[in-house]
Amino acid sequence: MKALVTGITGFAGSHLAEHLLREGYEVRGTFRPRSPLDNVSHILDNIKLVECELTDPFNVRKLFDNYEPDLIFHLAAQSFVAASWRSPRNTIVNNIVSQLNLFESLMERGLNPTFLVAGSSEEYGRIRSGDFPITEAIPLKPLSPYGVSKVAQDMLGYQYFQSYGLNVIRTRAFNHTGPRRGEVFVTSNFALQIAQIELGERDKVIKVGNLDAERDFTDVRDTVRAYVQVLREGRVGDIYNIASGKARSIRSVLDTLLALSRVDVRTEVDESRLRPSDLPKLEGSYDKLRNATGWEPKIPFEKTMSDLLDYWRDRLKKGYKPSTQRC
Ligand code: GDD
Repeated sequence: MKALVTGITGFAGSHLAEHLLREGYEVRGTFRPRSPLDNVSHILDNIKLVECELTDPFNVRKLFDNYEPDLIFHLAAQSFVAASWRSPRNTIVNNIVSQLNLFESLMERGLNPTFLVAGSSEEYGRIRSGDFPITEAIPLKPLSPYGVSKVAQDMLGYQYFQSYGLNVIRTRAFNHTGPRRGEVFVTSNFALQIAQIELGERDKVIKVGNLDAERDFTDVRDTVRAYVQVLREGRVGDIYNIASGKARSIRSVLDTLLALSRVDVRTEVDESRLRPSDLPKLEGSYDKLRNATGWEPKIPFEKTMSDLLDYWRDRLKKGYKPSTQRC
C-alpha cells in the first residue's frame, strides 16, 4: 500500500510517517521548499520526499506523474491558531487552496485514493455548557480564521464526496502534542521555557497566555494511529472526532510540566499571547471513532508531558536556539 503524507516534515506528519513505516506502507511525503527536515532526518532513507508548494496547482499536478497512492493523509496546513489572526489571508489561502488543488488534480488524473481531510476541534467554536463532550453533530461556529479555514476544508471534503464520489474521510482532531511539537504551541512552549530555566538559560519566569482555557489533549502518537485506522475502517464521506474525552485547564498543563522538573518559577502573563477570542473549553467525544474502528487513546498525558520535556532538554543540549516567533 502506498501512502502520501502532505506536510510530512511537520509535527504530526513525521509521527505519521514513522507509524506508516512500522505498518509496512511505502511512504512518500511532500514538504515546502526551505522547510527544515529535522523531524524526519532519522527516516530519510526509508521515505521519499517531494518538494511541493501545495498552493500552486502546477506543482500539485506533478505530484501524480507516474504515482498513484492508495491513501492520502492531507496534513499540510498553517496550523497555529494565534497566527491566523495576524495573517488571516495566509491561513485561509494556504489551507483551503492546497486542498482544492489536491482534489482537482486527483480528478483530472482519474485517481480516487482514500483521502484524509485533517480538520480540527477549532471548527466547533464556543460550546454551551450542556453540550460537552462535543459530538460530530454539534453545529460548527468557529471563532478564529484558522477554525474557519478548517470548516472550509471539511465542507470541501464533504462536497467533493457528494458531487464527484471522491473517497474522502474527514476527522476533527482535538489538541495533540508530544515530542517535536512546534515551540509556539502551549505545551511545547512551556516545556521549552522550563528546560531553558533548568539550564540557566533564562530567568525563573514562565511567560504565559490564557491559563483558564481548557483543552482536550491526545498524544500525537495516538492521533496518527487514529488517522490510519480511520482511513482503513471508517466510512467514506463520514466525519470522526479524535479526542481523549477529557478536558484539562492550561494551568494544570503547566503544573504537570513543573512537577516533572526541579525548577522553582513564577508565571507572568504576556499580553501578546492573549487572543482576540479564545475558546474557553474544548472536550470531545470519540465514541463514533471507537465504534467504527476500535480506536482508543493509549498514552497517558503525564507520559506525553515527560517525553516532551525530555525532547526539549535534549534539543537544547544539542545547541538548539529558540526562535523569536510570537507565541
Ligand atoms: N500557544 C500558546 N502559548 N497558547 C497559550 C499560552 C501560550 O503561552 N498560554 C495559554 N495558552 C492557551 C491558548 O490561548 C489556548 O487556549 C490553549 O493554550 C492552547 O493553545 P495552542 O497550544 O496554541 O493550541 P490551540 O488550541 O490554539 O490549537 C491547537 O489545537 C487545535 C485543535 O483544537 C493546534 O494544534 C491546532 O492546529 C489544532 O487544530
